[in-house]
Amino acid sequence: MSKFSSYNFSGQKALIRVDFNVPLSDKFDVTDDTRIRASIPTIRKILDDGGSVILMSHLGRPKDGPTEKYSLKHLVVPLRRLLPGATVLFAKDCIGEEAQDMAKSLQKGEILLLENLRFHKEEEKGDKAFAEKLAKLGDVYVNDAFGTAHRAHASTAIIAEFFPPDKKMFGLLMENEIANAEKVLHSSQKPFTAIIGGAKVSDKILILENLLDKATDIIIGGGMAYTFEKAEGGNIGKSLCEEDKIETARELLAKAQAKGVCIHLPSDSLIADKSNFRMTQRHLRLPAIIYPTDGWAWTLA
Ligand code: 3PG
Repeated sequence: MSKFSSYNFSGQKALIRVDFNVPLSDKFDVTDDTRIRASIPTIRKILDDGGSVILMSHLGRPKDGPTEKYSLKHLVVPLRRLLPGATVLFAKDCIGEEAQDMAKSLQKGEILLLENLRFHKEEEKGDKAFAEKLAKLGDVYVNDAFGTAHRAHASTAIIAEFFPPDKKMFGLLMENEIANAEKVLHSSQKPFTAIIGGAKVSDKILILENLLDKATDIIIGGGMAYTFEKAEGGNIGKSLCEEDKIETARELLAKAQAKGVCIHLPSDSLIADKSNFRMTQRHLRLPAIIYPTDGWAWTLA
């Protein structure tokens, strides 16, 4: 049994770093709660053990401190819906007196959601003093933020220094993702097709390089597909592109060809002012990419 599964959280306040970086509509409704749902088993296990939960996350990339559109308060209602029967409280700042008091008086079975960590510049700087303030809120640290695992930020990496070895661990989501990655990278059999997406080539380049030795086919989607499209001489309008990674993408395509790995990029595209999924699904062969003129991009699955 894993460290997390065998740990008894009874009477413990678990400080969980989750990745609740979810898309919100103009009215601040969560339009895709996949990332929240992915953390529920970890939260549930702690509550079922008789512990309480303090959730911390970033949302978006706020530049100038607290901003309405990046507030995690918009996630309180969806969380209550996904955790029926549980009390979900919200602290208007992730550090400071209010957060400390709320964490201190948190009762067994209760959840405290902290405001966006990135409202403090110290989070992304990996500031030690900030990490220590966060660490003081909980008895045990659980990292379940798989989507943010590549960031050495205060709440993801630095904070672990402030907990003894038996009081820090990965949550179920992180454990599962690591187990899956291990399986794929170390015991895969050919033919083996990898599907990879996300906005940035820079974040995925090492994985892609690694996959060239394992996979027979790699399907590239998401925002990063545009950098590859451009590397191949394609016209991508205002869509997302890492200009400084075009050469990297070109090199990767050449290496794939040399190794006999087939790279699949989206085959159809449409230029539009905004997304109209019904229309595009009817009119295009899938998988397709929409290139909206506002610079955003979507891939359809
Ligand atoms: C993501 O959505 O990729 C993660 O939440 C990390 O967000 P970031 O790229 O803004 O650090």
